[in-house]
Amino acid sequence: MTDVLDTARETTNPTGDANWWRQAAVYQIYPRSFTDSNSDGIGDLPGITQRIPYLQQLGIDAVWLSPFYPSALADGGYDVDDYRDVDPRLGTLDDFDRMVAALHAAGIRLIVDIVPNHSSNRHPWFQEALASSQGSAARARYIFRDGLGPNGAEPPADWTSTFGGPAWEPVGDGQWYLHYFAKEQPDFDWSNREVQDDFLTTLRFWSDRGVDGFRVDVAHGLAKNLPDPLPSQAELDASDKTSGTHPMWDRDEVHDIYAAWREVFNTYDPPRIAVAEAWVEPSRRARYASSGGLGQAFNFDLLEAEFDAEQFRAIITYNLAEAKASGSSTTWVFSNHDVIRHATRYGLPPRAQGEIKKGMAWLLSGGTYPLVDEEAGLRRARAASLLMLGLPGSAYLYQGEELGLPEVADMPPAKRQDPTYFRNPGVDIGRDGCRVPIPWTRGRPSFGFSDHEAHLPQPSRFADYSVEAEERDPRSTLSLYRRALAARHELQSEEELVWVEQVNDAVLHFVRPGEWHVVANFGTIGVPLPDGEVLLASGPVELGVLPGETTVWLRTQA
Ligand code: NOJ
Ligand code: CA
Repeated sequence: MTDVLDTARETTNPTGDANWWRQAAVYQIYPRSFTDSNSDGIGDLPGITQRIPYLQQLGIDAVWLSPFYPSALADGGYDVDDYRDVDPRLGTLDDFDRMVAALHAAGIRLIVDIVPNHSSNRHPWFQEALASSQGSAARARYIFRDGLGPNGAEPPADWTSTFGGPAWEPVGDGQWYLHYFAKEQPDFDWSNREVQDDFLTTLRFWSDRGVDGFRVDVAHGLAKNLPDPLPSQAELDASDKTSGTHPMWDRDEVHDIYAAWREVFNTYDPPRIAVAEAWVEPSRRARYASSGGLGQAFNFDLLEAEFDAEQFRAIITYNLAEAKASGSSTTWVFSNHDVIRHATRYGLPPRAQGEIKKGMAWLLSGGTYPLVDEEAGLRRARAASLLMLGLPGSAYLYQGEELGLPEVADMPPAKRQDPTYFRNPGVDIGRDGCRVPIPWTRGRPSFGFSDHEAHLPQPSRFADYSVEAEERDPRSTLSLYRRALAARHELQSEEELVWVEQVNDAVLHFVRPGEWHVVANFGTIGVPLPDGEVLLASGPVELGVLPGETTVWLRTQA
């Protein structure tokens, strides 16, 4: 055991490059749905360790691991009971150390999710707060307010939680606590010194164990300034979200928190990295991404765009300029554990492709598949992904997208787990459909995910999307991702691109230093293929023609 621990600490830096993150391909693992090593139907850390050869062959640079902490799973693990332990259903701290050591030995870095906006209601601090009196130090770590009306029976404000339903929950003594998300996720009060210090301890705890960085959940929500009396929901909705003064979101002083985190990150060699999940105005991402702050921020703009050349070009141009100005590199993302998988999203009618919620409503209203052109969705997803992997900056991939996995929309309500489904009856389909365990083999009971039935039901068509099925097929999405990630390593160059102007608006063509050309045809009609050696194509390319909804990588002679 000890030697594994020692190795974990020694190999924290596979190549010693402090800039490794700038153009990394980062693969998100949602641990409960990746691989189950002990046949209980839930994916776990030893399961991830077993799959490292697969990750290595895929060609990713780093893993981002979604929460693996002890949790009652009121929100898929984003309700954390203990920030410095592993959920016993997923393994132990020793399993974690073994996983880190094995990832590093394979040259793969590890980013872990950190959830600082809220704990779970089972966290010892919240339990202590409930057991303590009003105005106590224990309650001061969270956001408690007196209720209105006789005995405080009415909520302190009419606020709606991000997940739907009320944002204030009574505790039985006339006080209520704030939860931006589910009621099992009480928000911390980040002006509290103990809260601030405890997170610094947590960052050190995992950094000492060898993690290379952190993905920061709801990074724009921590700093709050709740006036007395509280504003109404209507007033909150009307408050400016772009000036850093909104009472709840994206307040300027949130950056003081990250400046303190940065000091911790920089005590390590190489410095630990962080990427902010901050759904803020694009122009306000730069501060999260600054080198004195978290260093990088998710750019979700492509994820919210339609499969459309003009939208893609504007987003790419804007974000490259923004990243340059902030000194960071940009991030690209099409899929994650919160949104409809892009192979399905791009099969929706155009306007629904770019609106995640609307897309969900489409799926919900129509009994799903008749409304989705799955063939076109996958064709467009492959074209979009190949374009993304050619862009400067880092690419965040979500487990299963390398298989072209579709969203599972037709799930029996009794099997669903996501609170966003239950808190918004008939309106929101929830996020379970992108969290279904991924298929490794063609066989039942769970396509190689487990010897047991999976915790979210997998449709029978998953067999055709399994790793086993796809790795034998050179035209599969898995083969495309493997080739693209390998070629990306070979071709990777400075974080720049130059657009090659086109007569056809449906075509985007850019060239990266090293004569690396990426040409994407967003239209449905074939166009002449530019000169050059075709290195890769997202679909069949005929002689001299770039078919519709297809991307190619080309190389020309300098
Ligand atoms: C963002 C996470 O990605 C999502 O899954 C979670 O529900 C919320 N933050 C709340 O933690
Ligand atoms: Ca398990």
